[in-house]
Amino acid sequence: MGLLFVILLSSCQSADKIKLEQYYIGGKEIFEANCANCHQKDGKGLQNLYPPIAGSDYLQNKSQVILAIKYGLTGEIKVNGKVYNQPMPANSHLQNLDIAEVVTYIYNEWGNEQKLTTVEEVEEVLKKK
Ligand code: HEC
Repeated sequence: MGLLFVILLSSCQSADKIKLEQYYIGGKEIFEANCANCHQKDGKGLQNLYPPIAGSDYLQNKSQVILAIKYGLTGEIKVNGKVYNQPMPANSHLQNLDIAEVVTYIYNEWGNEQKLTTVEEVEEVLKKK
C-alpha cells in the first residue's frame, strides 16, 4: 500500500470523526435547550410524566423518533414496558440539520450508536409525512 493512500485513508476517517463530533456537540446544545426540561439532562426522564431517552426501547425505530421531535407526540406510548400518556410539543422551529444533530446526540449518548444521523436521513423521513 502506498504511503499517499494510507495518508488519504486516515485523513478521510478523521474527517468523518470530526463531523460526528460536530453533530454530537451541536446536538447536545439543542437537547439541553429544547428537550432537557422534560427528559432531563441525563436523559432519564421524570417519573411518570416524561419517559427516559437513555436506554429507551422506543429508539429502535428512528423514523418514529424523528417524527416525534418534529411534530410532537400525543396518546399513549410504552417505553421499556411502562405506559406514558402526556403530550410532547412539536419542535417546528428545528431545521433538518438541528434534528439530525440532536438525533445523533441522543443515539450516541444513550442509544448505543457510534455513527452520524445525516440530514438526508431526516429529510427522507419527513418527506413521507
Ligand atoms: C414539554 C416536555 C417535553 C419536551 C420539551 C420534549 N419532550 Fe420528548 N416526550 C415528552 C413526553 C410527555 C413524551 C411521551 C409522549 C406520549 O405520551 O405520547 C415524549 C416522548 C419522547 C420520545 C419517545 C419516548 C422515549 O422516551 O424514548 C423521544 C425519543 C423524545 N420524546 C425525544 C425528545 C427530544 C429529542 C426533545 C427535544 C427536541 C423532546 N423530546 C422534547 C415530553 C417532552
